[in-house]
Amino acid sequence: MIVLGIETSCDETSVAVLDDDKVISNLVSSQDFHTKYGGVVPELSSRAHLQIVLPLIREALKKSGLKNEIELVAATAGPGLIGALLVGLTFGKSLSFANNIPFVPVNHIEGHIFSGFLQEEKPEFPYLCLTVSGGHTLLVYVAGYDNLRVIGSTIDDAAGEAFDKGAKMLGLGYPGGPALQNAARQGNLSIDFPIAHCKNQYDFSFSGVKTSLLRYLQSQYGNEIPHRNDIADIAASYQNAIVKALVSKTEKALKKFGVKSLSLTGGVAANLLLRESFRELAGKYGKSLIIPDLKYCGDNAAMIAYRGLKVYNAGYRYDLSFPAFASSKKMGMFLGQSLKISE
Ligand code: KG4
Ligand code: ZN
Repeated sequence: MIVLGIETSCDETSVAVLDDDKVISNLVSSQDFHTKYGGVVPELSSRAHLQIVLPLIREALKKSGLKNEIELVAATAGPGLIGALLVGLTFGKSLSFANNIPFVPVNHIEGHIFSGFLQEEKPEFPYLCLTVSGGHTLLVYVAGYDNLRVIGSTIDDAAGEAFDKGAKMLGLGYPGGPALQNAARQGNLSIDFPIAHCKNQYDFSFSGVKTSLLRYLQSQYGNEIPHRNDIADIAASYQNAIVKALVSKTEKALKKFGVKSLSLTGGVAANLLLRESFRELAGKYGKSLIIPDLKYCGDNAAMIAYRGLKVYNAGYRYDLSFPAFASSKKMGMFLGQSLKISE
């Protein structure tokens, strides 16, 4: 089945064409102009999506060599910035309506959770997936395309957010994850930042490590920016605390839940220390490890198209009145679950 995917939940406009699980084209246009504001400005994001989405759809179709062969349209319906979501979602619905093609709304996080299937080596059910991005940190037990259970999540900041906020405090710019990783390269683990323990042993919390960094900087440097060598050590120690928290909770879940594979997805899965730690973890427990290529870690429409296809193939059908959702709580984790229309 040929699927067109559209993703506009935050600051990336992305359009992809898939032939089942084969990616024919996947274009991503990043809104770099947010850097100067130190974070994503929602209104500017929506306007930029509006400008780029149609040319990007045309380009993706041109690249794929297809015109009228699209059989399914999938677009992110949430969670994300509501104005930004509405651009891609409305475009997807319009294409579906005008061309009489079925339409599937997709939960962005579910797109990340199944993004390992875009790799040659696929996860095997049941698998354990850690999805870490700028907005979400989830540990999910995935038993099938319409059978997944969140076993842990963050009770405050997301892992990516912790990277972004830490980088901001260190004057490293936005997005903070890659900048902080870079700064940490020459650093030593000289500072002991805390790892939070939560009531649910699989939950995460990153507000403590963030506050602890702030206190450390205030006590050591006042209002001054630390020296470059110091920044490297601080960044390395801070990165290590975040990664250790992610790995230790995942290890606990690996011990408890019998799974065949382990998967690491989302924007923070680009982090080299985290990838390496997951390789060790998978090796220790004899699990296959699936981490998407970098182009499928960050926000992309290929994962949205793939997820849409699987939801559609599982028999779920949606009305064009389906709304956009800012929050995942209101949306529900498995988008299809409460909405399956019995045929
Ligand atoms: O999945 P994503 O592209 O967008 C969301 O859905 O949030 O994730 C973006 C997040 C940002 O917080 C960014 O700082 C983080 O992923 N990130 C990284 C790295 N590359 C991106 N965090 C740590 N290390 C990296 N190399
Ligand atoms: Zn994302």
